[in-house]
Amino acid sequence: MSLFPVYSIKDIEIVSAKGMHVYDKNRQEYLDLYGGHAVISIGHTHPEYVSNLTSQLDKIGFYSNSIRIPLQNELADKICAISGKKDYQLFLCNSGAEANENAMKLASFYNARKKVIAFTNAFHGRTSLAVAATDNPSIVAPVNETENIVFLPFNNAEALKEYFLQYGKEVSSVIVEGIQGVGGIREASPLFLKTIRELCTAYNAIYIADSVQCGCGRSGKYFSHDYAEVDADIYTMAKGIGNGFPIGAILISPSIHAKLGMLGTTFGGNHLACVAAITVIDVMTKENLIANANLMGNYLMQELKQFPQLKNVRGKGLMLGFDTDEVPQLKNILLDKYHIFVGEAKPNVIRLLPALTITKKKSIILFQY
Ligand SMILES: Cc1ncc(COP(=O)(O)O)c(C=O)c1O
Repeated sequence: MSLFPVYSIKDIEIVSAKGMHVYDKNRQEYLDLYGGHAVISIGHTHPEYVSNLTSQLDKIGFYSNSIRIPLQNELADKICAISGKKDYQLFLCNSGAEANENAMKLASFYNARKKVIAFTNAFHGRTSLAVAATDNPSIVAPVNETENIVFLPFNNAEALKEYFLQYGKEVSSVIVEGIQGVGGIREASPLFLKTIRELCTAYNAIYIADSVQCGCGRSGKYFSHDYAEVDADIYTMAKGIGNGFPIGAILISPSIHAKLGMLGTTFGGNHLACVAAITVIDVMTKENLIANANLMGNYLMQELKQFPQLKNVRGKGLMLGFDTDEVPQLKNILLDKYHIFVGEAKPNVIRLLPALTITKKKSIILFQY
């Protein structure tokens, strides 16, 4: 049987990893400044992560949500402590798309409305409503098309106000990335996020902060939306929360009340996933990784700005990007000659999404190309 060919693939077979590095089958070392697409937060195969997951697997890996799983409560307490989102409620699932899907669905249950506002260049995942809220018609199948999603211009507070003035009573939720990732490392301005907050409050709509890529400490704050100093009603997470273990999560404001059976999942919140996410938070706390994301982000930004061929160096913490007219060439040189993985975004953006454990010594190689 052949694989369904949906990815463009580099002919490299990674067989092991340690910290900031991955190794191919010929033992070639690569510096991973891509983090497997912002997934690796505490570094590859962190010893505490490997040990905790292994010993959990020895006990029990999975049982369904029909029984008590105290690891879920421990995880909820730890997310509360690290994020500062007191009294929020936690729902666990398996991926970023699923987190966003559940968030929009929950909002619609809450206010019994249908319209969701999303923004130009947004990426929210590939399941039905998540992909409909993604600004890329080429990945939206006819069955996913819906009039319930409205796209407005990103970072345009006036356009948002105008829309709410006319249709505010129909709006169920507004979904926005704190820093657009797939869209090319574009930050939502604090003014824009504050306006979303104000309008959602005024019209009883739900503000959904998609933190799947920009969350979990990567931006130098646990949630990048927090730079605007207002709270969202729902935060969606995945990627960095599990350091590679598939886990998605949504944090739900105390004003939204659950009803039995409203949301559900078979795998979400299983024992292994909880241990992975708990360990990530423990390591982040012990190793001060959010502070390191800040420090190293500033350092990398400063250094990158010294290369005139790299335009519009931008981002926050360890979610950085720049424009260059030579994306494929640069990616190839970095990978083939210097053995460095980086990400990209259309039309001409290179994205850097390294683990939050990166040090100056490890990153220096990037500046030698
Ligand atoms: C901002 C954002 N939301 C949602 C998703 C979808 O996450 P997943 O691929 O885990 O479904 C992504 C994935 O890249 C993302 O960047």
